[in-house]
Amino acid sequence: MKTIVSTFEMQKFSEQARLREKTVGLVPTMGYLHKGHLSLIGKAKRSCDVVITSIFVNPAQFAPDEDFARYPRDIERDTQLCKSAGSTVLFVPHENEMYPEGYSTYIAVERLSSILEGKFRPTHFRGVATVVAKLFSLTKPHKAFFGQKDAQQCVVVRKMVKDLNLGVEVVTAPIVREKDGLAMSSRNVYLSAEERSEALILHASLRRAQEMADHGERNAAVIAGEVRHMIDTKPSAKIDYVALVDAESLADIDSLERGIPVLVALAVRFGSTRLIDNTVIKIR
Ligand code: PAJ
Repeated sequence: MKTIVSTFEMQKFSEQARLREKTVGLVPTMGYLHKGHLSLIGKAKRSCDVVITSIFVNPAQFAPDEDFARYPRDIERDTQLCKSAGSTVLFVPHENEMYPEGYSTYIAVERLSSILEGKFRPTHFRGVATVVAKLFSLTKPHKAFFGQKDAQQCVVVRKMVKDLNLGVEVVTAPIVREKDGLAMSSRNVYLSAEERSEALILHASLRRAQEMADHGERNAAVIAGEVRHMIDTKPSAKIDYVALVDAESLADIDSLERGIPVLVALAVRFGSTRLIDNTVIKIR
């Protein structure tokens, strides 16, 4: 595996790979890799000749009061993991090359960026869309791989690719969970033992939502109410939102209908750690 730091080198590498008719896949990450990230690298490997994994803790997607400074970082461990997962290139650009002094161009994916997560993190998706567009232009992928864990991020990136004719195929992969159901996240290291155990309610409540739908419940508000109620039983849990929306458009829905996938998305704070999780319900 080759590590590339320079943006110029990265572009040159990808241009050459494309000239040699190699299929280029990109797995963008902020590092502190876990099995969720590695599943994306594995998926990319199965359909691309060249897999570029990027690690960049993107300051533009953190608000000033968020965890940019303390976001976990371990580049040595990440390099090993990335290599054993079969990545061809590890791209680790420097902040001053990504956002040199005077940097001033940002991408706004309207509407989709201001709902759900966007209500609580108003500048987040502007930062995500901007860095993903920059990573696309630096790595020139045919395909880019994103986790369903960040369901809204997938929708925002897809929309940006479509609206800006970026010509990248956006591939999504399922949420990878710990054995006990907690969705893997680099931020799980922030949780105390007690918070971590209370956070298991997220997966349990999402499973309950699917179960209610399986038993014929069609009212979105009733399902959301039950999910909230379950989470509220945990003393350290503070809900930012629990929402049932159309999984493709993220539009609010009142009732569940056969054949229309519904995203149950939630964000909950346990102490100072904010977790997101989701599931897609389908009526069979
Ligand atoms: P990060 O949180 O590091 O996640 C990188 C990728 O891994 C994202 O596509 C995310 O959805 C996926 N991922 C994280 N946890 C996962 C899990 N448990 N199961 C499956 N996939 C999982 O998302 C970002 O970084 C950034 O916003 C980024 C896209 C890199 C732009 O800065």
